[in-house]
Amino acid sequence: MFNNINKSKKVVLVGDGAVGSSYAFSMLQANVADEIVIVDIQKDHSQGDVLDLEDVLPLTNPAGIRTGSYEDAKDADLVVITAGVPRKPGESRLDLVSKNTKILESIVKPIVNSGFDGIFLVSANPVDILTTITQRISGFSKNRVLGTGTSLDTARLDVALANKFNVSLQDVNADVMGEHGDTSFAAYDEATIEGQPLKDVAYNREITSKELANIEKDVRAKGGQIIRQKGATFYGVAMSLMRISKAVLNNENLVMPISAPLTGEYGLHDIYIGNPAVINAQGIAKVIEVPLSSDELAKMRHSAGQMAEIVVATK
Ligand code: 2OP
Repeated sequence: MFNNINKSKKVVLVGDGAVGSSYAFSMLQANVADEIVIVDIQKDHSQGDVLDLEDVLPLTNPAGIRTGSYEDAKDADLVVITAGVPRKPGESRLDLVSKNTKILESIVKPIVNSGFDGIFLVSANPVDILTTITQRISGFSKNRVLGTGTSLDTARLDVALANKFNVSLQDVNADVMGEHGDTSFAAYDEATIEGQPLKDVAYNREITSKELANIEKDVRAKGGQIIRQKGATFYGVAMSLMRISKAVLNNENLVMPISAPLTGEYGLHDIYIGNPAVINAQGIAKVIEVPLSSDELAKMRHSAGQMAEIVVATK
C-alpha cells in the first residue's frame, strides 16, 4: 500500500480512553487526517466524545469524526490501537501482557477480516510486546506494524537534558532505546548537545556521569510517577502517536525512535523494540542499526532478552 498524498486520509482509532481521546484531539488540531473513526466498546462514551471533539472543528479544520466499527478499517490508511487495560500503580508493564494480548486478538482479527490494507500503530502497554503480537496475529509484513516504543521516553529524556544543559530542545539529540519499560536506556554514547558529543559537553560543564545516570533513572520512572500523581499518562504518548501518524499519512521519511522490528540488527531477531526507524507511507521504511558502544549493545540485548521470554511464552 502506498498512500497518494492527495487521497483522503482515513484513520480508525480503537480505544477511546484518555490516550485515544487525546490523540484524536491532537490529530484534529494538527489537521493530519480527513476522517477519524473511533471504535470503543463503551459506545455511549465514545459517542459523547465525538460530540465533544466535533466542537473543535470550526476552529481547527473540517475533518470528519464519528464513531464506527471494525468494518470501517477496510478502506482506512491507519489503525491506531490504544485499547488495553492500563498499568496499575506498582504493576510492571510486563504483567499486563496476557490481559492485553486477549484484548488485542479481539481487535486485530476482525480488522484484518474487514480487508484492511493499511498500517497498524500500537500504543497499548507493554507496547513493544503488544506490537510484536499484533504483527503475529495480523500476519502483516513487519514494516506495516509499528508501535510508539521509546518515542515517549525519548521526549522525556530530551526535556530533562534541555533543562540540565540549559539548551533548547532542538539542540538535544538523544534517544532512549530498548523496551519502553524497566530495561530502557539512554543512548548517551551517541547523543549530542548542540552538535557536540553529549559526554564531552557534560565534561566541560562539570555535569557528572552520576547526574546523567540519575536523569536516565528519572526518565525511566516518569510514567510511574505521573500515574501515581494523576492516575494515568496520556498527553505525551498521544503526541507521539500523532507525530507517527503524520509521518505515515504524509509519507514523510521521518526518523524517530519507535517500536521497530529487529531482523538481525544487534544480533537480535523476531522482536519489536525501541529503536530509531524511518517512517513513511509503507510504515517502517528502514530500521536504523545504531553503532552502539559495547556497554549499550549489552543493554539492548538484555532488554530484548527480557521481552523475548514473554513473547515466546504467549505463543
Ligand atoms: C508511560 O510511560 C504508562 O507507558 C506509559 O507514560
